[in-house]
Amino acid sequence: MKTALYRKYRPTSFDGVIGQDVIVTTLTNQIKKGVVSHAYLFTGSRGTGKTSCAKIFARAINCKTPINGSPCGECEVCKALASPSNLDIVEMDAASNNGVDKIRDLRESVGYLPSAGKYKVYIIDEVHMLSGSAFNALLKTLEEPPAHVVFILCTTEVHKLPATILSRCMRFDFRLVPTDKLFALVKDIFEKEGVTADDKAIMHIAKLGEGSVRDTLSVADRCKSASDNLTYELVLEITGSGSNEDTAALMEAVIDSDVGGVIKKAEQMAAEGRSVSRISRDLTVYARDLMLYMTSGESGQSAESVARMAITAKKTDIGFLVRLVRTIGGADAEIRYSTAPRIALESALLSLCTPSLATDSTAAGANAQSSAPTDTSQPYPAAQSNNTPQSDIAPQPEIKNKTAPVAKPAAVPDFEKPNGRTDEKALEVLGRIRRTLRTSGFLRLFGEYGALPDDRVRIVGDKFVVYVDDGSYLVFNEPDNFAAVRSVVESCGYTLVIEKLKSGIDPLEQIIKSVQGLEITVIKK
Ligand SMILES: Nc1ncnc2c1ncn2[C@@H]1O[C@H](COP(=O)(O)OP(=O)(O)OP(=O)(O)O)[C@@H](O)[C@H]1O
Ligand SMILES: [Mg+2]
Ligand SMILES: [Zn+2]
Repeated sequence: MKTALYRKYRPTSFDGVIGQDVIVTTLTNQIKKGVVSHAYLFTGSRGTGKTSCAKIFARAINCKTPINGSPCGECEVCKALASPSNLDIVEMDAASNNGVDKIRDLRESVGYLPSAGKYKVYIIDEVHMLSGSAFNALLKTLEEPPAHVVFILCTTEVHKLPATILSRCMRFDFRLVPTDKLFALVKDIFEKEGVTADDKAIMHIAKLGEGSVRDTLSVADRCKSASDNLTYELVLEITGSGSNEDTAALMEAVIDSDVGGVIKKAEQMAAEGRSVSRISRDLTVYARDLMLYMTSGESGQSAESVARMAITAKKTDIGFLVRLVRTIGGADAEIRYSTAPRIALESALLSLCTPSLATDSTAAGANAQSSAPTDTSQPYPAAQSNNTPQSDIAPQPEIKNKTAPVAKPAAVPDFEKPNGRTDEKALEVLGRIRRTLRTSGFLRLFGEYGALPDDRVRIVGDKFVVYVDDGSYLVFNEPDNFAAVRSVVESCGYTLVIEKLKSGIDPLEQIIKSVQGLEITVIKK
């Protein structure tokens, strides 16, 4: 039977783990120094190496002669632990064993000494699925673990874990893997598998993985099963996506409000066999790349595409692109179930070309094309146009928790030149916000650093003040993200306050529209 590539190439030592350098260095240093904690938490996006690293680490801490922090694979312990029936590395999938009974069994077995190596390691995958009582039972064990026991908890949804568990674990956040690293991995695997593929083809596969190694290897697998000799065109055909140039052209037509151009381009793409839902997905991904480029200067695109993006970026702004993503998202059901999907997509796109027709819930805030031009073509840190004197911080919205009304901040904080200035205390909270957002759906597409740079947060008394502009507005535009930010800020003992920096769009109304269940007062100066 054919083994899936992602199984066949699951790394067995830390050398094979890509894109997680900080984590790998920290873990291998612990092995080298012989300092092992009792509980680890591996969190982050799917398919980025949490389970793989947990397995490697579990063997490495037991190995008699680790090589550079990885298990040697040769010693008697490594050999004993290689067998899936060994009793020292216990892997438990909380998704299917989420009850308190399993954890009670676990607590009993924790008392027995390891049979082969030094440590008994419990890997609890998808730990967020445990029931409340199971968490409590686990907590008791985490409080007083025997010296020979190590827990590694893995989850994509760290925000679902109780704080009592979090505080007992050493935490590692697995990042999405950059496209160039995915590219190198696929290239290497194709070489080993005897598949020839041009670089453009491999790059396309790497991009479709969207930062997940597992997803990338699944796409690679699909292509490999189709042919041992892959070209870019073939990969496009197999993966069902048309060329990026077409998507870019369609995006430009929408941004230019070129109604005829939109219809013609959509028609041509459909005629070439791209399904309408594929066209709308490609357009959404392109909008995301464009926003990433505008906020961070990165894009994951080839040089020629970047040059094209730079031109497009000058003509639009984040507010418009967010609206585009939402409008297309809103038309999704219609596109999927309608008997005339192309008309559904076209009318969604045309509503963007003609602002007066826009009826979706997010349209009221920013009308990108009619708002004052902002220089959003610059990568975020260089966007000096956002660097406004404090007198320009005009309407000052204060977002309050209904149950705990608060007064407006006593003084406008010292914030004349935001770029480059940081507030140490606020950065601690920001770190937590980023860690939380990294694992929640929307923002991780854009990169939490671009959206909430270090110099945009301040602590003023008991307020945590965030200065919103085009970039950080992305965070607040999503109700889930907003709720996550607020809960982190409140758990740190502060009240969240949003201040607006002058920018090309007016995010305030969008915030009001998208944040439900919150009382918002706009204080006019
Ligand atoms: N950082 C990485 N380096 C190399 N290969 C990786 C990496 N991350 C994932 N993989 C590949 O993807 C497969 C799945 O990885 P793994 O199970 O470790 O991911 P995960 O983070 O636990 O995902 P999930 O959240 O879905 O459980 C592995 O078998 C391996 O082939
Ligand atoms: Mg996993
Ligand atoms: Zn060994």
